[in-house]
Amino acid sequence: MIRVGVIGYGYWGPNIVRNLNSVESTQCAMVCDSSPKALARVRKAYPGMQTVSDCRELLRSPEIDAVAVITPVWTHYELAKQALENGKHVFIEKPFTSSSEQAEELIELAARKGLTIMVDHTFLFTGAVRKIRELTESGSLGDLYYYDSLRVNLGLFQHDVSVIWDLAPHDLSIMDHIIKAEPEAVVATGERHLNGVEDVAFMTIYFPRNVIAHINVNWLSPVKIRTTLIGGQKKMLVWNDLVADEKIRVYDKGVKIASGEGIRDVLVSYRTGDMWAPQIEQLEALHVELDYFARCIMNQETPFNDGHAGLRVVRMLEAAEVSMQKRGELVSL
Ligand SMILES: NC(=O)c1ccc[n+]([C@@H]2O[C@H](COP(=O)([O-])OP(=O)(O)OC[C@H]3O[C@@H](n4cnc5c(N)ncnc54)[C@H](O)[C@@H]3O)[C@@H](O)[C@H]2O)c1
Repeated sequence: MIRVGVIGYGYWGPNIVRNLNSVESTQCAMVCDSSPKALARVRKAYPGMQTVSDCRELLRSPEIDAVAVITPVWTHYELAKQALENGKHVFIEKPFTSSSEQAEELIELAARKGLTIMVDHTFLFTGAVRKIRELTESGSLGDLYYYDSLRVNLGLFQHDVSVIWDLAPHDLSIMDHIIKAEPEAVVATGERHLNGVEDVAFMTIYFPRNVIAHINVNWLSPVKIRTTLIGGQKKMLVWNDLVADEKIRVYDKGVKIASGEGIRDVLVSYRTGDMWAPQIEQLEALHVELDYFARCIMNQETPFNDGHAGLRVVRMLEAAEVSMQKRGELVSL
């Protein structure tokens, strides 16, 4: 049994506590939040749960094996560092840290102490992304051409980070998981309208072998949209995460170019075959992820969403930030 202390019981923390208590091999042993209101909510939902307002008590507790850091990104590095220094494994929210230097330091510290870091890239544990990875790994889609995602809604505004740092980590971690190649360069543009951070942004990522990705993130959209198109040489798919049925539709469509004799004799043929919607597992992603966290610790295995995976996402975010400040200059990675 892995006993976990959770720091941060705001919007996302309750989901972590609930799942820690439903996974067989984990138990939420203590919750810390600096807000008395948040702690009152914990006690109401879980009478008898140990609650503290000072995280030092949690970080030093001998009754805790791992710490879940579910606080805003600017606090991640310091809290994770203290957890590791106190010999605790770390489950930490996305984005992993505010800079790649911080991420590198935490990775080095965890390795030195023989501790596990898992970055909560929740989407990688959804039935939809697991299916997409299966389709790309098996070669069903053929060579990948593009990944194009629309992730927009009205609010929830973060005060410390731009919409890129808030929403793009989901797509960047998914791309990292399915494209499995180091990105070459990033271009990003965005604008601030309300509270000093970019609330609308567009990001393009160049990968080797002509794979291109585009992400549109926006806190000022009148409607919530979570739609991703992935195009391959053999098949293409549309993933609409907001529908209950047929979240993923795979289209047997494609384009073939054959050149004739002269330079003007380019022959384009279109293939339009069937569409099918694969069966998708319905398990809650966080449940699967926290179970995996406990198993990685108990079996001393390195999770695929470890500190290095978190660092790769932070590097893309940093490059996007630089590009955005220069109004869309290409930034090489
Ligand atoms: N994986 C996902 O899908 C997902 C979804 C939402 C949020 N998140 C991530 O979760 C993290 C938290 O986001 P949120 O929306 O829940 O934020 P939030 O502001 O709603 O909640 C954060 C909580 O942490 C507490 N807190 C902050 N610093 C603290 C400290 N030093 N000690 C004790 N308590 C402290 C605050 O009082 C607050 O209750 C962010 O990193 C965010 O990116 C991830």
